[in-house]
Amino acid sequence: MLEVKNLTIEYENTTIVRDISLTVESGEIYSIIGKSGCGKSTILNAISGMLGKNGRITGGTISLLGNTIFENGRYTPYLKKVLGKELATISQHPDSSFDPLFTIGNQMTEVMRVSERISKKDARTKGLNILSRLHFSDPERVWNSYPHELSGGMCQRVAVAMALSNKATLLLADEPTSALDVTSQAEFIKQLQEIVQNDNLAVLLVTHNMAVAGALADRTGYIRNGKLEEAGGNVFAVTAS
Ligand SMILES: Nc1ncnc2c1ncn2[C@@H]1O[C@H](COP(=O)(O)OP(=O)(O)OP(=O)(O)O)[C@@H](O)[C@H]1O
Ligand SMILES: [Mg+2]
Repeated sequence: MLEVKNLTIEYENTTIVRDISLTVESGEIYSIIGKSGCGKSTILNAISGMLGKNGRITGGTISLLGNTIFENGRYTPYLKKVLGKELATISQHPDSSFDPLFTIGNQMTEVMRVSERISKKDARTKGLNILSRLHFSDPERVWNSYPHELSGGMCQRVAVAMALSNKATLLLADEPTSALDVTSQAEFIKQLQEIVQNDNLAVLLVTHNMAVAGALADRTGYIRNGKLEEAGGNVFAVTAS
């Protein structure tokens, strides 16, 4: 599904992570953990081509669904084709996923229209369905709300809903639970696991929260000194060492 091989990433000629390799299969959640500033977001941004002007991949390859996204120092046209569709992303700052001037419904409709011709009515039916799968008790209200009318935690769940509105096969999620309290975190974990299983979704998740990683991940990678060490299922054993 996703295959990252020997990836080295720099910001302004400073190496942030080096020689990173990982794979994520369908129906699997891989979580990357590590201290603040160790390069977790950098890895996700490199995969989705969002490193910005001063960031650069200096070595390695990335492929998705058997197609190359990055090799020989450059991104392939395939990335543009899948971004926002098969390859969905949730950024670390959920507010940045929304335009404050439009309702959630409007924004979800726009996202769906990136990949399919769909009427407003059908988009609404599909959107309400996705929101109810994320267990919003009143999907209609969420659909008609502006982002500022929702709590931070609700915004994070809506960001997931938006990301999933185009039948994603891989979800890159950066700290998707940071705005949630412990109870909502537990609910979110259950919901994400349900979606992963039902849709055979692959998820690459970044978190600094060991409990979230422990509960969610099938596999865990720990970043230490710019290297990624795969830790198997039990992250607690690694962090204690
Ligand atoms: N646009 C940028 N330009 C220059 N340096 C950057 C840029 N973005 C990140 N960095 C640096 O790269 C390193 C890794 O940052 P990154 O955001 O990937 O960390 P992180 O592991 O996601 O941290 P956190 O848990 O706090 O989100 C940090 O030292 C950071 O200062
Ligand atoms: Mg980060």
